[in-house]
Amino acid sequence: MVRAWGQSIESADTYTFGHCERVARHGVAVARALGMDEHAQITVRLGAYLHDLGKVRVPHEILSKPGPLTRDEFDLVQMHPIWGIELLAGVEFPWGLKPIIRWHHERYDGTGYPDRLAGDEIPVAAQIVGLVDVYDALTTARPYRAAFSRAAALEMITGGQQGWSETVFNAFLLDLARPDALGRAAPTDRAPARPAVGRSASSGRCRGGHAAFGGRVELVRVAARSA
Ligand SMILES: [Fe+2]
Repeated sequence: MVRAWGQSIESADTYTFGHCERVARHGVAVARALGMDEHAQITVRLGAYLHDLGKVRVPHEILSKPGPLTRDEFDLVQMHPIWGIELLAGVEFPWGLKPIIRWHHERYDGTGYPDRLAGDEIPVAAQIVGLVDVYDALTTARPYRAAFSRAAALEMITGGQQGWSETVFNAFLLDLARPDALGRAAPTDRAPARPAVGRSASSGRCRGGHAAFGGRVELVRVAARSA
């Protein structure tokens, strides 16, 4: 049932079909790499299906807008984690899905939204879904840009590594290096070596939110639009 909800959410956005499925499968692999138990892995999988539930309240023309978002439009997009929680206010799950929905856009360095949590205030499951979501967003074509290659996506994510804990980030890279990983790296398309924490990514256009106003990088721009 939760998986079907995820597919419904996808149809409300303009992601290619399968985004939630890929985030779920990749997220579970990262959770497994971290040694999380089966219940936690199920939590990550179902949370991945529902993480963008609140987007059903964001006007379709904003989600599919080919050009830059206005400040007001971006403010609406940034409401989707809270709206997702509101939509599930009367639903109780035997898994901790709501923290994933609410905090998958939080970042380890405190630059995320909606609550600007920082560090280990952000549940590991939410970090996993957030990181895998960004990777899938970067490697998927969107209305406003083509898909980045795996190598380019990894370069951008590595540049923005301060968004996730070192432990989660390394598990993510470890999973990508597996021969059968969803985003498996070909011999010439390897994940870059992990840089020092705090390294900033290269320049890029910014579309909105704290990204636009803080001069942040393409990674943040893309994540903000699509994750
Ligand atoms: Fe999201």
